[in-house]
Formats: sequence, structure tokens, C-alpha cells
Amino acid sequence: MRLLVAGGAGFIGSNFVRLRAAEHGDEVVVLDKLTYAGRRENLRDAAHTFFHGAIEDPAAVAEAIDGADAVVNFAAETHVDRSIAEPDAFVRTQMDGTYVLLEAARERGVRYVQVSTDEVYGSIAEGSFTEASPLRPSSPYSATKAGADLLVGSYVHTYGLEAAIVRGANNYGPFQYPEKLIPLMILNALHGDALPVYGDGLQVRNWLYVEDFARAIGVVLADGAPGETYNAGGPDEVANLDVVRRIVALTGADPGLVEHVTDRPGHDRRYSLGSDKLRALGWDARVGFADGLERTVAWYRDAAWWWEPIRSGEYRAYYERQYGRTLG
Ligand code: NAD
Ligand code: TYD
Repeated sequence: MRLLVAGGAGFIGSNFVRLRAAEHGDEVVVLDKLTYAGRRENLRDAAHTFFHGAIEDPAAVAEAIDGADAVVNFAAETHVDRSIAEPDAFVRTQMDGTYVLLEAARERGVRYVQVSTDEVYGSIAEGSFTEASPLRPSSPYSATKAGADLLVGSYVHTYGLEAAIVRGANNYGPFQYPEKLIPLMILNALHGDALPVYGDGLQVRNWLYVEDFARAIGVVLADGAPGETYNAGGPDEVANLDVVRRIVALTGADPGLVEHVTDRPGHDRRYSLGSDKLRALGWDARVGFADGLERTVAWYRDAAWWWEPIRSGEYRAYYERQYGRTLG
């Protein structure tokens, strides 16, 4: 299969490209704008053809989609804290970009998979969200992701586009940009920097190892029905403070580095996803949190070649803006 993977130079996209090229023998074309989060290095060991461009640019999309049998769209602005500080790019990429990709897929009759998030459902105190749960996004990030999902649905309903949506829980694993909780805490712990826990740290996330999510997306690509949405939840729900304590233990860092800082505005308390619908297609998460976290810490320990340029570049300035302190 010739696959167009939009946003394939990011964290989950690059893990997906690696899996597809290695295990399925697909011919993979990546279209990526290479924002701060997109890196060619993420794809250095994955066979692919690369197009540098934005999904909101019709000419770039037309070039990259030529001959594709399917499109998988990962391209997005993805960090909640950045969406609170500067929502503009979130609207452009998620709304305009998804629209341009959908138009290109519709014109050519190309199958389409939208990669989405559990955050579109908002926060849940008890129980788990199903695909029928209402969309109640809290942040500009999750609201623009929900908007993109609705646009995808409208292309199925109105034009008969063969499109499906897959909503993943919080992912973690190799190649995740260190603005997100787990890689941020691992790198700070390895460097002896403070570990900034928002608020009381009792917010809960439903952690999903990135390879499990990549396989879930493959299952939806192969067997997802047009117009349907599939949740991919993780096997474990863990409070942030517990995540950080486990990272302290795995890295041998000083527990005194943990610091409670001002909470995120509008912070969602808990995410939990029910995945029965995707399980019925044969998918299940294989990697438990303890195992996945150990693998992830081991990867970051050995991946200084990957994170050193990040920690000395744009990320440093971002960190100072977001946390009001300098990285060591
Ligand atoms: P990421 O930030 O690591 O990567 C995003 C990629 O998209 C980068 O390579 C970036 O350069 C590219 N990109 C951004 N704007 C673009 C544009 N306008 N045109 C082309 N490329 C553009 O994100 P990620 O964590 O890999 O997330 C990938 C997708 O999965 C996103 O759609 C996200 O909403 C979704 N998702 C993420 C998680 C998670 O926990 N990280 C969970 C569920 C769903
Ligand atoms: P994050 O990785 O940003 O993912 P999301 O907000 O999409 O779930 O954050 C995961 C959780 O960790 C969330 O509850 C916010 C919290 N968090 C911190 O406590 N400190 C931090 O420095 C970061 C980045 C996140």
C-alpha cells in the first residue's frame, strides 16, 4: 500500500512510519511542516519519502498525495500548554489543515484516517468514555481536535468519503518531544533539574505505549468502517505524582527535586477511555505502564544524540517562558 502519512516526523507519526515500513512493507510518503516538534532524526531508521510542507497548503498536499491509496493524518499542534499561551497555530493546522487534506482525499477518492485524542471528550470523574460520549473539549488544543473530527464526519456524511477516526489516550515512548509530562520529567531527572508537578498532581491519565497506539491506527486503517470512530485506551490509569515518583525511582534522581507549581488553567482532572469497539476488531494494548515506562527511561538514557540538540535549542526558551526558570 502507498500511504501518505501527514505529520509523520512527529512522535507518534514517526513510530507509526517505522512500524508500517518494517512490518507491513508499505511504501510510505511523509508530509510534514517540521515545526519545533517535527524532526527528520525521528525517521532516520524508517524507510520513507519525505515532502516538506504544511497540510494547509493545497499545492504541498497535491504533490504528496499523488498515487496514495490512503492518508493517515497525524499533523497537529499538540501541546495543551502551548495552546493556552498561543492558540493561533492550533486553529490553522487543525481546522484549515484538516480541511485541505480532506478536500484532496475527496477529489481523489482516497481512504482517510484521522488521528485524534481522548481529550475531545473532556474530563470524566468516574467510569470511561465510549465513542458515543458527547464532545466537551476544555482547551484550545482539544477544541480544535474536536473541530477537526467533526469536519471529518461531515465529509463522510455529505460526500461519502471513506474516513474513520481513531482517538488515543495519552501516549508515551521513544521520540516524544520533552514538553510532555513523561519525557520532560525523565530528562529533568537525568539532569538534576526540578520536577514541576502542576497543582496537587492527582490528575489521572490513561497511559498508552506508542507502539500500541501505532498498531491501533493500523487496525483502523485496515478494518475501520467509514464514518466510525474507535477509542484506543491504555491498560493503566496513573496519577501524575505517581508517574513522577516512578521516574525518580527509575532514574535514581533525588526525590527532593519534585516541586508543586501553579496549576494549568482549565486542567482536565481525569481521562479514561473504553476500547471495546477496537477490541472487537482484534486490537489490544500489549505494554503495561511499568514495562513501558522502564523501556522509555532506558531509551532516553541512551538517546543523548536525539535530545541534546533539543535541550539546547527552541525548547530552552520555551521552558523559560512556561516554567519561569532555566534548565540546568
Ligand atoms: P507531535 O507534536 O510530536 O508531532 C506533530 C507533527 O505534526 C510534527 O512532526 C509537526 O512538524 C507536524 N505538523 C504540525 N503542524 C503541521 C502542519 N500544519 N502541516 C504539516 N505538519 C505539521 O505530536 P504527536 O504526539 O506525535 O501527535 C500526533 C497526533 O496524535 C496528533 O494529531 C495528536 O493530536 C494525536 N494524539 C496525540 C496523543 C499524545 O499523547 N501525544 C494522544 C492521542 C492523540
Ligand atoms: P501532558 O503531557 O501535557 O499531556 P495532556 O495535558 O495532553 O494530558 O500532561 C500530562 C499531565 O501531566 C497533565 O495532567 C498535566 C501534567 N503536567 C505536569 O504536572 N507538569 C508538567 O510539567 C507537564 C508538562 C504536565
